[in-house]
Amino acid sequence: MTDLITIRRPDDWHLHLRDGDVLATVLPYTSGSFGRAMVMPNLQPPVATVEAARAYRARILAAVPAGDRFMPLMTAYLCDHTPPDELRRGHEEGVFSAVKLYPSGATTHSEFGVTDMAKVAPALECMQAIGMPLLLHGESTDPAVDVFDREAVFLERTLQPLLRDFPALKVVLEHITTEEAAQVVRSDHSGRLGATITPQHLLFNRNAIFTQGIRPHFYCLPILKRERHRLALIQVATSGDARFFLGTDSAPHARALKESACGCAGIFNAPTALAAYATVFDQAGALDRLEAFASLNGPRFYGLSPNEDTLTLLRAPQAVPDNVALPGGAAIHPFLGGSTVPWQVRPARPAAPH
Ligand code: NCD
Ligand code: ZN
Repeated sequence: MTDLITIRRPDDWHLHLRDGDVLATVLPYTSGSFGRAMVMPNLQPPVATVEAARAYRARILAAVPAGDRFMPLMTAYLCDHTPPDELRRGHEEGVFSAVKLYPSGATTHSEFGVTDMAKVAPALECMQAIGMPLLLHGESTDPAVDVFDREAVFLERTLQPLLRDFPALKVVLEHITTEEAAQVVRSDHSGRLGATITPQHLLFNRNAIFTQGIRPHFYCLPILKRERHRLALIQVATSGDARFFLGTDSAPHARALKESACGCAGIFNAPTALAAYATVFDQAGALDRLEAFASLNGPRFYGLSPNEDTLTLLRAPQAVPDNVALPGGAAIHPFLGGSTVPWQVRPARPAAPH
């Protein structure tokens, strides 16, 4: 039995870092283990200009703990009226690594997102021409569509026309949750379509949200799905298929905002994501493919080199704290908090000093 696994240092291709005190609190959980992260732009106001992204990147870099080597890769929040030249300039200047498309109203802080794909056609034309990837929150916002069907409907109504109309555009379907999404990505052989997968969608099905009561800390978007979808995601993630790669979608919200009559969507999994992925790959008998998923497939898709250094995971029980404290007395509940997980990153980062 393998008790220790050393892989190239992983990257997180989908991450919410927030800003201010929350940024300072959550960033060390990522920068201690991951070399790079694709940083989501859904701040308030959104990170929609080159100047906003440059300033946000500087705030992130200033919050990286001494001794960590971490590179934030910035994304542009696509609005109906984003000027294509802003995207082009940000890309040329090395500020924007990719563009994030939220259908307006689909998820947390998506109100400035896209209301109609036709409105962003000029931006997509420009991105296609300069090789700038589009990262999709792939859920239909049609209120008539059942919440559990939103991803599958998006694939039909939005993704397929997009792939047809922009045949050279690089696209990442973020945080896929369904067998249908896995199949769409697998059936593309052009090399321009990839997908990220979160730890929660590999470890849990939708029953987790309703176990002996309502469990707000299992609520994220896209929402957890049926078991058959989870099994399909495990299959593609652990297959070594280069089109699938690690993206945690770690999305911190203070406990009070989740444990509420109208709780926020988002799971803060940065502290336990790698242990969770290792557990899934181990259970699938695929630990030898963890490195491809976590450290090789993402850089390859984005045309970057894998990280040079390594990270070691150890099969040893890890008790996960129930809370990560925020300055001022609030706290965030980490994914798997209060439980013991069978893997841990070595050396473990000491708890933040709040
Ligand atoms: C994310 C957030 O809180 O920013 N929430 C989530 O449930 N995943 C937004 C997103 O990625 O959908
Ligand atoms: Zn996200």
